[in-house]
Amino acid sequence: MLLSILTSLAFACQAPVAPTLVVEGGDGVTSINGVTVSSEFGPIIGEEKAVLTSPPNVPAPINRNHPTKLIVDLEVLEFVAPIADGVDYTFWTFGGTVPGSFIRTRVGDVVEFNLHNNPSSKMPHNIDLHAVTGPGGGAAASFTAPGHTSQFSFQVTNPGLYVYHCATAPVGMHIANGMYGLILVEPAKGMSPVDKEYYIMQGDFYTEGAYGEAGLQPFSMQKALQEIPDYVLFNGSVGAMVGDKAITAKVGESVRLYVGNGGPNLVSSFHVIGEIFDNLYVEGGSLVNHNVQTTLVPAGGSAIAEFEVEVPGTFIIVDHSIFRTFNKGALGMLKVTGPDDLLVYSGKQDDRIYQPEGGAVQEIPAAEGAKTPSSRTMEERMTLGERSYKVNCLACHQANGEGIKGAFPPLAKSDYLMEDTKRAIDVMHKGLSGKITVNGVEYNGVMPKVNMSDDEIASVLTYIRNSWGNEGGKVTLNEVLEAKSAH
Ligand code: CU
Repeated sequence: MLLSILTSLAFACQAPVAPTLVVEGGDGVTSINGVTVSSEFGPIIGEEKAVLTSPPNVPAPINRNHPTKLIVDLEVLEFVAPIADGVDYTFWTFGGTVPGSFIRTRVGDVVEFNLHNNPSSKMPHNIDLHAVTGPGGGAAASFTAPGHTSQFSFQVTNPGLYVYHCATAPVGMHIANGMYGLILVEPAKGMSPVDKEYYIMQGDFYTEGAYGEAGLQPFSMQKALQEIPDYVLFNGSVGAMVGDKAITAKVGESVRLYVGNGGPNLVSSFHVIGEIFDNLYVEGGSLVNHNVQTTLVPAGGSAIAEFEVEVPGTFIIVDHSIFRTFNKGALGMLKVTGPDDLLVYSGKQDDRIYQPEGGAVQEIPAAEGAKTPSSRTMEERMTLGERSYKVNCLACHQANGEGIKGAFPPLAKSDYLMEDTKRAIDVMHKGLSGKITVNGVEYNGVMPKVNMSDDEIASVLTYIRNSWGNEGGKVTLNEVLEAKSAH
């Protein structure tokens, strides 16, 4: 086996210089110092430069029926980039993206790995590839100062989907800053053909400021130690696979997702809403399960999920530890276009009134320990109001206040909301049911009475009346109290 040849040659040399693989002229067979290199996977023929891709893209399948010498050039880059709208973070990356470049190999390949650390880097870095059989997975051999390149070689001996990551101390911090990616080792017969392949990798992030707090946010070691992330993300930022950045497929196509989890801390309950994994390579290994709804992806682990898309629509990709999805960013989208199949999925067939408890307004229980009212600045009202909005209102009225057509009226540029402050306060105190007209559109739903403190009502209404193009000025605690006493 190659590794033993490498080892014996290393011992034979007086100076401990690692031998170099050389491709001989005519037959294209790789050799070391004139000795043909062969292994249980057959002779290593020729050499190739690996094609590396950024997420969510995956390099094309390998069609070789033999192992080769595969040259990988991966550059470490440190830079500041948005982690969310208006929020910046200092990322450390393999190849300029989080997760790092996808590496595709075939079992038996001898990988010549060149790790370049850009001269602009402030830190040394290295790489531990879980596809490597050897101490540290390559970590010691690849330790690289800024402005240096390290080279080492390894043979990929086990097919599967493997995580790679930086292993330079403090290891957790290097991983938390985005230093992880995936390397695929295809079996000798290759992966079965599919129509679409994508690369998705989850990671948890720890910032000094809370989720969404604007500006450049430093890494928080304290939160990382407590394992309480502010962000849980697919592919490195909030919205990285949403809207026009969603992954796509057409009805009838087969889709394969190469899923990884960089951690550093959390285990992922990976799920695609509205899909079932026909085939699932458990933990990225050779065991294939079928008909799986949600799969666990450990920190430092992976899974390969395959399914066919039968109907059109937007399929939401989540960590089913669901607060992470709707409150910490772990949300991606697969957009499927094509004709409906009403047998597989009918869509909504009917909508009628169902009120087992009568038409009365329901109550959402009050949170304990409501704040003592006090006078507040506009800035305080906006900050507190935004927080209350996200907790109490966002699910129905949406982050941008546009509501949901046919169900929840818009708050952005809403004539109903803006023309009467007292009525808006009453709605918060008492809830609302029955027909109302907002911007010329009729709504006939039930909004529960939201048991916020008067102080919170003043704040959230101030926030709503001064966001998304609304210009309504401050709602004071006095106004809220007066409206209440008039009930
Ligand atoms: Cu590093």
